[in-house]
Amino acid sequence: MFTYIINMSWRLFSMHDTLVFMNTVLKTLLSRRSLRLFSDKDISPEDREILLKAALAAPTAGNLMSYTIINVTGQQIKNRLVKTCDNQPMIAKAPMVLVFLADMQRLYDYFDYSDVPGLCKKMDTAYAVPKGGDLLLAANDAIIAAQNVVIAAESLGLGSCYIGDIIENIEEHRKIFSLPPWTFPVSMLILGYPKHKKPEKAVSRFPKDFIVHENSYHRFSHSDFQRMFRETEEQFRDRPYREPAENLGQHIYLRKFSSDFMKEMRRSFRKGLETWNNGR
Ligand SMILES: Cc1cc2nc3c(=O)[nH]c(=O)nc-3n(C[C@H](O)[C@H](O)[C@H](O)COP(=O)(O)O)c2cc1C
Repeated sequence: MFTYIINMSWRLFSMHDTLVFMNTVLKTLLSRRSLRLFSDKDISPEDREILLKAALAAPTAGNLMSYTIINVTGQQIKNRLVKTCDNQPMIAKAPMVLVFLADMQRLYDYFDYSDVPGLCKKMDTAYAVPKGGDLLLAANDAIIAAQNVVIAAESLGLGSCYIGDIIENIEEHRKIFSLPPWTFPVSMLILGYPKHKKPEKAVSRFPKDFIVHENSYHRFSHSDFQRMFRETEEQFRDRPYREPAENLGQHIYLRKFSSDFMKEMRRSFRKGLETWNNGR
């Protein structure tokens, strides 16, 4: 019977489709969608543990786990995050909220504990401190751990949504979470069970050749862009662009790139980088 099903599926679908059909990890990856409306059902302590276990199993540079996860359980903090993360009420309703920090503070505190300053003195070298490169690497660690949670959640029938606005209002986030200088909020996830059935149609993506280049980077022509944004433009057939935009590019510029939240994100990042670079 099993062989029959495989043979039939080979005939009906391409080899690739069959692989996706048979492989539950690929099925989970390809059917995932962001979830913003949660049911009242809570996440069991066991499932919460599994999600965190999946995070900690993620690849990590130098096996140093240069990130910290803040598990936000206080309702008042969630309510505050609604405001500090660009007024997104779904944050307060999410049963699980995780903030992912790039974290070099823990390692640096360990260096102090291990008398690395003494070692540097003995070697007559300067005691190096974390800089931008360390932040980027630690941010990689944090975001990769977050994505493991996304996929683990999906596999358990839960849904999730990233909240990029955690990069905003860094002064307030430092206060809320008592963050020391060599930590940086880089990602946030809200998780829970879906209130409604998942829509059949996945969110559209740009065609692969715009995203995957072979061997070297290349830039695109005007006609390429027409093809790249064709599907997105379709979605605007009965929706107006933001005034006074006359085309999709202008709309994206006004709605996203030069929006108030992006201005705040850039300001907040500059401020956070200043603190990181000065170590205070
Ligand atoms: C870094 C990042 C930040 C995001 N921030 C937000 C956010 O603040 N609010 C929100 O509703 N969705 C946010 N999203 C979700 C995206 O809007 C979503 O992934 C995108 O529209 C594609 O839809 P899909 O995830 O369902 O495929 C974010 C996603 C990423 C990866």
